[in-house]
Amino acid sequence: MITIIGSINMDLVTSVERFPKKGETLRGSSFQTVFGGKGANQAVSAARLGGDIQFIGRVGEDDFGKRYIQHLNKENIITSNVKPVTHKSTGTASITIAEGDNVILIVPGANEAMTVEVIEQAKDVISKSKIVLLQLEIPFPAIEKAIEIAREEGVKILLNPAPFYPIPASWWDSLDYVTPNEHEAEQIRRDKHFHPNYEEKMIVTEGAKGASYFENGQRKLVSAPTVKVIDTTGAGDTFNGALAVGLDTGLSLSKAIEQAVAAASLSVTAFGAQGGMPIREQLSRFLEGEE
Ligand code: RIB
Ligand code: NA
Repeated sequence: MITIIGSINMDLVTSVERFPKKGETLRGSSFQTVFGGKGANQAVSAARLGGDIQFIGRVGEDDFGKRYIQHLNKENIITSNVKPVTHKSTGTASITIAEGDNVILIVPGANEAMTVEVIEQAKDVISKSKIVLLQLEIPFPAIEKAIEIAREEGVKILLNPAPFYPIPASWWDSLDYVTPNEHEAEQIRRDKHFHPNYEEKMIVTEGAKGASYFENGQRKLVSAPTVKVIDTTGAGDTFNGALAVGLDTGLSLSKAIEQAVAAASLSVTAFGAQGGMPIREQLSRFLEGEE
């Protein structure tokens, strides 16, 4: 079993030809509401690949929250630790896509209700897992508590350090794998608390190039297949969910990364963070086709 702890956002995506200027009103070309949030995205990625997934998260007592819990259930994710909280809205990410780029405005809302107590209440679930997967889109005390419990119980810990914040020095010893993208990796390496030994824990996603890991004193690249890119939102999340499943099922690190790279490549061929995340059969077929 894999426990994924993190954020839930509804992504409100507007497409427009160019970004508006301050004070300007523009007419966009399309608007879509899609399921997002790094934590939930990673849970969906892992569940589609057949992982046994528990998710710990919070939504608001609103329509988005109701819809999101239903959605997670449909995706075969166990939601006994996903609860609505009062006086907070479900997290939202207002995404504007223009000029081949995007700007994102996040309101964490109910994600801020992820407290140490919430994690303590889910202690049993964490202890029974083989892997815990975390990101940095919920308050740090909750993440730290999850790391502490997982460590005590001998559960493997995968941290996706996104969005970027410096990783507290005291966490490093407990972390098994850290999965930054290239930009996050650069910032992590510049941190004065970073020790060269930590390189071994870092699996770096490198966009269209693929992902790299450290073996026998050097970085090795697992290259990504060429695909037609529609939307890269959630590619990193797809990678992390898939990597967790690969490791949970006992694949070698290089094999697990290969599968995660393939899953992420498929995910960018469809709109929305979770659109395009493959199910197990699709991924197998894609990998066979590549050989
Ligand atoms: O990683 C992609 C996610 O980041 C989006 O779904 C959005 O919700 C933001 O949290
Ligand atoms: Na996608």
